[in-house]
Amino acid sequence: MSTCLDTLKKENVSIGFVPTMGALHDGHLSLVEKGLSQNDIIVVSVFVNPTQFDNEEDLVKYPRTLEDDVKLLGTVSNSIIVYAPTVQDIYGEDIKSQFFVFDGLEHEMEGAFRDGHFDGVGTIVKRLFEIVKPEKAYFGEKDFQQLQIIRKLVEIYKIPVNIIGCAIHRAEDGLAMSSRNTRLTKKDREAAPFIYKTLLFAKEQFGIKSATKVTEWVEKQFKKQPLLELEYFTIADTKTLKPVKRKSKNKTYRAFIAVYAGDIRLIDNIALN
Ligand code: PAF
Repeated sequence: MSTCLDTLKKENVSIGFVPTMGALHDGHLSLVEKGLSQNDIIVVSVFVNPTQFDNEEDLVKYPRTLEDDVKLLGTVSNSIIVYAPTVQDIYGEDIKSQFFVFDGLEHEMEGAFRDGHFDGVGTIVKRLFEIVKPEKAYFGEKDFQQLQIIRKLVEIYKIPVNIIGCAIHRAEDGLAMSSRNTRLTKKDREAAPFIYKTLLFAKEQFGIKSATKVTEWVEKQFKKQPLLELEYFTIADTKTLKPVKRKSKNKTYRAFIAVYAGDIRLIDNIALN
């Protein structure tokens, strides 16, 4: 992959990069399309990264649909290169992540609930950046904490890549697009749009109520939902990702949520101001 891309770069071909774990959906395609509008070639990596899973069952059951993914990308453009390495290609025999400190961003929310997750993400993204060496890389805001951590990774390791955050792509009923959505039962899929509806109400309330009051309200709403189990709802500073104590006019905030529908874990977030 490096050799192929080095040859293209010598011919002044600009390379954009969309890292994925496959099971591609419209959310991924929106990143690819944005990339195609800003680069000559887009590399899409498809790699289910074992070191970022804290739950073995989730790793085993994670959808793997490489053939369909390649076909789908082929319908979008012929300026796309798919890079689908094996676990051995990336890790050799030592499937371990590097340990990272991301200025505390790694301890909040997903970091608190998914042990080692961001070490795994940092390891694979750094490795893929070394291989692909893109000018620009595209990440969805659905994983907003991941996006901020990757910005920090690039800053700490002085990696010459421009990180571009892309708006969350949603189904018509508001559910944030995710590869895990395909694993929801019909009933859970019907219940799941409640997550985004609640975020929209929370945003409305944040204009007039304290973060604590909004959080209490959200927790109460989820207690009335038999199919959805709230793991966390946090209103946090967009930059530090620390939970807000008292609102300040000069800061921006986002609400972050993680919910179980059956054994499927869904996350979402929304800008509040
Ligand atoms: O967001 C994802 O799909 C993954 O975390 C990523 C960035 C491809 C790393 O495995």
